[in-house]
Amino acid sequence: MSLPIRPATPDEFPALERAMGLAFGGDPVLADSEHGRAITEFDRTRCAYDGEEIVGTSGAISLELAVPGATLPAAGTTMVSVRSTHRRRGLLRAMMRSHFEDVREREEPLAALWASESSIYARFGYGPAAEMCSITVEPARARFARPLEAPGRCRLVGSDEAGKVLPAVYDAGWRERPGHFARSAAWWEHRHLYDPEHQRDGASSYRFAIYEESGAPRGFIKYRTRQKWPPTGLPGNELQVVELQGLDATARAALWRHALDVDLVAEVQAWNCPADCELPWLLADSRRALRTVRDSLWLRVLDVKRALESRRYAVEQDFVLALADDDWPDAAGSWRLETGPEGAACTRTTREPDIRLAATDLGTVYMGGHRIGALARAGRVEGTAEAVARADVAFSWDPAPWCPEIF
Ligand SMILES: CC(C)(COP(=O)(O)OP(=O)(O)OC[C@H]1O[C@@H](n2cnc3c(N)ncnc32)[C@H](O)[C@@H]1OP(=O)(O)O)[C@@H](O)C(=O)NCCC(=O)NCCS
Repeated sequence: MSLPIRPATPDEFPALERAMGLAFGGDPVLADSEHGRAITEFDRTRCAYDGEEIVGTSGAISLELAVPGATLPAAGTTMVSVRSTHRRRGLLRAMMRSHFEDVREREEPLAALWASESSIYARFGYGPAAEMCSITVEPARARFARPLEAPGRCRLVGSDEAGKVLPAVYDAGWRERPGHFARSAAWWEHRHLYDPEHQRDGASSYRFAIYEESGAPRGFIKYRTRQKWPPTGLPGNELQVVELQGLDATARAALWRHALDVDLVAEVQAWNCPADCELPWLLADSRRALRTVRDSLWLRVLDVKRALESRRYAVEQDFVLALADDDWPDAAGSWRLETGPEGAACTRTTREPDIRLAATDLGTVYMGGHRIGALARAGRVEGTAEAVARADVAFSWDPAPWCPEIF
């Protein structure tokens, strides 16, 4: 199906929102339009039109994304939907093509997204680069293994103070964790502090606590509580952690302790923690932190040279990787990669490859969240055991990538 693909205008935002609402199975909440409109980069939208009607939507957010040891511009692929009457006729493919052309023009080496279904995006060269870990803990069983030795204290703050402190803390720390990205003032206002009742699902408005040392904020937790009064008379409330960020492990431990110590709470639920979250290891009984892990951020490497030269690596290595990339010929071919903790060089080469992999698998391992060795054992990466082991160690990274928000 060949329908025109073009950017939507700000006036068309309600139609765009309705199209997305239909495709995602929800109701468009028009009361939110001003918030959605404020953070939509209309020149980066790519919509499919059938006559006057929008039948396909997609867009991009201009991100500054943390990768191992560096930050890079990246396109946050978003708002992807196709109307049920127009599905499976190539509209997504056409919008993705236009999106990638836009990414190339803007010289963004990477594209990143959250996938509604994990079956969609590998064909476009995205790989599941980061994981999210959902954790549930009963506070009654959440004694810490060691006494918390935090020199500071936690303090509840209102939304006005949170609007100042949270961005400052986030801004001081986001570069350290691959998968995080810079948040603009508008992003804070319209995404993170915006708290309409229809998004609460019966829980409270946001609660904010900050952890401070000598009056200087070092971390924050944003959460909701849901009241429950079970007939047993035992505490029944839920505490839903929306985001917990700390500039160091002490700050994070203090904030976890705060969440676990709120009275009347039967269960603390954190929907999105890093795969290497410290909470289980803080507990005396680590299994009490019930964990469910799944993919979160997907990554597409479009400018191989810049992407591979910009990140840092665990060790010095020198190897050639052959990249198969049917969807983006710019990336395909053999690349010599000389890695190190201080930087890297990536050049086209005619040398015999040490390892072979596909674009989706490069996206999977790029942030250091998945091991090349594991992909090799699954038959996704080819190479001698020695070459795989060298590449595996070079790409590994601590901390694990984590994206604390869906976009
Ligand atoms: C996902 C969605 C955008 C696909 O749009 P579409 O126009 O039907 O996709 P296309 O016809 O361009 O399909 C492109 C390719 O993706 C495949 N594909 C599309 N949707 C898929 C899905 N949900 N699962 C698996 N494969 C899918 C097609 O089979 C096709 O494969 P091929 O070209 O390799 O043969 C559409 O189904 C939709 O709106 N779904 C609901 C909203 C949603 O999940 N959006 C994604 C947000 S991350």
